Amino acid sequence: MGAHRSGAGAEVGLQPLSESEGRRLKPPPAQLYGRPRTHALSPRQVRLMEQALPRLRFDMALAATPRASFPVSIDELWLEVGFGGGEHALAQVAAHPGVGLIACEVFENGICSLLSRLVPDNGVEGIEATAPLPGHLRLWDSDARTLLRALPDGCLDRLFLMFPDPWPKARHAKRRFVHPAFLPELARVLRPGAEWRIASDDPTYQAWVADVLAAQALFGVPPPATERPEGWPPTRYEAKALAAGRGPLYWTLRKR
Ligand SMILES: C[S@@+](CC[C@H](N)C(=O)[O-])C[C@H]1O[C@@H](n2cnc3c(N)ncnc32)[C@H](O)[C@@H]1O
Repeated sequence: MGAHRSGAGAEVGLQPLSESEGRRLKPPPAQLYGRPRTHALSPRQVRLMEQALPRLRFDMALAATPRASFPVSIDELWLEVGFGGGEHALAQVAAHPGVGLIACEVFENGICSLLSRLVPDNGVEGIEATAPLPGHLRLWDSDARTLLRALPDGCLDRLFLMFPDPWPKARHAKRRFVHPAFLPELARVLRPGAEWRIASDDPTYQAWVADVLAAQALFGVPPPATERPEGWPPTRYEAKALAAGRGPLYWTLRKR
């Protein structure tokens, strides 16, 4: 959703943003852009949204103590922004039973896609309300930035931003998740030493990320990998990018 691929090109150079450029940049908007749904939900999807989602939804009343939103005890707290169809989030949850993952997505069809992988469509009436769900997964079905702003300092051990909407047009730069004005907020919620993974296949976004990261000191930034590193589950957007011949970059940042 919102991933407009046309017009990709280096609208920003690879030089770090100067102080005056940084000041000219518009801050990220408070509201999200784009449609939260591409087509009407089927009856099964409506049941998933009405009966399964509430059982996994992150409770904003517990934002100050996010670990308390999990019914099981967790060793680490991770958060994924924009999980799309949920492949990456579910693979991480399966591979790391000691970790609590808060997975954020605004796109209803994506949320249904993740939920449909968890709840079998076996014709049993009310299965969406009763099927067992992973205790160490919580979903936030709204703007990830709203949740991030509400979380306490240093509470996150890892952050994932896999193939974010690139918003390639210069006038839409303020909508990009990687944004100089939002980096301090991300740094605030990540504990020192925490990892922030970013993947992008879009040339404009890649150049933008390089520029934004070169102009900050909150995160240590080794050069990005050109092959998906071990322990990074594949995503649907990555598969599309590779099929179209685009070369993703994979950043592993460390909070200082
Ligand atoms: C290009 S898709 C990539 C999806 C998935 N990560 C993948 O790699 O297949 C980006 C997703 O991020 C979601 N998204 C964008 N901004 C968001 C935000 N502020 N909070 C939560 N989700 C967001 C969009 O709805 C979209 O599904």
